Amino acid sequence: MKVLSVTSECAPLIKTGGLADVAGALPGALAPHGCTLRTLLPGYPKVMAAVEDGEVLTSLPDLFGGSGRIIAGHAAGLDLLVLDAPHLYARDGSPYLGPDGQDWPDNPERFAALCWAAMLLARDGLPDGWTPDVVHGHDWQAGLMPYFLQRHAPGTRSVLSVHNIAFQGLAPPWRLGSLRVAPADFHPGLAEYYGQVSALKTGLICADRLSTVSPTYARELLTPEFGMGLQGVLRDRRADLVGILNGIDLEMWNPANDPDITPYTAPSGKAQNRAALQAEFGLPDGEGPLCIVVSRLTEQKGLDVLLEALPALTSRGGRLALLGSGQRELEAVWRDAAVRDPNLSVHLGYDEALSHRMMAGADAILIPSRFEPCGLTQLYGLRYGTIPLVALTGGLADTVIDASDAGLKAGAATGVTVYPLTAEALTAGLERLCTLFSAPKVWTRMQSNAMRHPVGWDSSGAAYAALYRDLAGRS
Ligand code: ADP
Ligand code: GLC
Repeated sequence: MKVLSVTSECAPLIKTGGLADVAGALPGALAPHGCTLRTLLPGYPKVMAAVEDGEVLTSLPDLFGGSGRIIAGHAAGLDLLVLDAPHLYARDGSPYLGPDGQDWPDNPERFAALCWAAMLLARDGLPDGWTPDVVHGHDWQAGLMPYFLQRHAPGTRSVLSVHNIAFQGLAPPWRLGSLRVAPADFHPGLAEYYGQVSALKTGLICADRLSTVSPTYARELLTPEFGMGLQGVLRDRRADLVGILNGIDLEMWNPANDPDITPYTAPSGKAQNRAALQAEFGLPDGEGPLCIVVSRLTEQKGLDVLLEALPALTSRGGRLALLGSGQRELEAVWRDAAVRDPNLSVHLGYDEALSHRMMAGADAILIPSRFEPCGLTQLYGLRYGTIPLVALTGGLADTVIDASDAGLKAGAATGVTVYPLTAEALTAGLERLCTLFSAPKVWTRMQSNAMRHPVGWDSSGAAYAALYRDLAGRS
């Protein structure tokens, strides 16, 4: 089974969030199931610099306002196809945002071009004879791929995965031509969304199959609360929509041989890392749990609610170390809060190695998201024996077993879940976390359960392979 994966980010080359981790992990996750994935990525400067043994496959003189070429090569163990188009991608920094922190105005065209290149690769195949059976796109950036396939390469099957429906890739209708969407397709049954062109909606309608990154989010997406206007489109396609949980890279995230930490294999081994983390963040001693947040700072993550509920933690001797970056207003709010509260220490920025040290040293990780399609940091937490406290939503609900009476009696609990996400409920959740922490036997049992919880790609790799095979009509 040959699969072309189409993505706007891919770890470790270029990353803004979990999508990159997943896109980077899929080839390895699918290889044991007999699926060969090649990953099509925009030629951002970081990607161009990383590609080894690049070979130009195709020149594209007329690519959305300039010329481009598709280069085959390797980087970080990935088999890449890179769309080298300087007029679209030769811009430093974030793949999506300009220096002013705003979306690049031509983002719709930048990613329409990626979808066009995917279609050409599917239609014409590669010079080495490799032609994908399935094209698998991720998020709105790949939204026009299924549409272009339907129109120009109708034999090739497509899957579109929703990692986050909050981003939909909207453009005004006067840009239909520059997006290569036929004016006749600009209607509510296809490309039109409340007067705009929606790349995501178009993809959700045209893809042969849809997936998202957890079973709970797959159900939530069908509701007005979570569907963000696309719930009707998704309800119409519910028979083709499946939720497959993300996994994490068990090599990269392995407390037993993580080069960024003092390695450990049992909860007791966290002590040295804990002392180092407390010192690194300049936090005082305390009776309560040393908690962390590692997150993009956006509305989605519910961290404003956490700030309101924080006294429930700090009044019981708990402390919080936060690593995050994102919206400038939220960064300022947390920076100011840390000045006022000695039990809160904030590091603004993006720092992969620090995030490993935090996972190793913390007692608990707090993830009070308003919505969370899957979430990866609770999975890192489980693997490192760092108890997740999470909002009961999306993939968080699918991966954390609450320390309810039943969960504790069954010896299965791995964390604390909070519902609904209000300051009151989160306050109660933090109090519960502190109570659990003050009973060392119970806490250690939860840590051991967490460290044993399967968080790799085994079953999800098999689920994607089954989806591809089903789609391509093979058993
Ligand atoms: P999302 O994709 O919505 O941001 P996920 O939990 O799926 O949420 O993935 C976030 C990824 O980004 C994780 O790998 C997490 O460790 C990483 N991450 C987020 N913020 C930071 C940061 N400030 N420093 C280092 N890693 C971060
Ligand atoms: C999105 C979601 C996150 C998910 C990630 C990878 O960024 O916000 O929940 O884990 O995609 O699928």
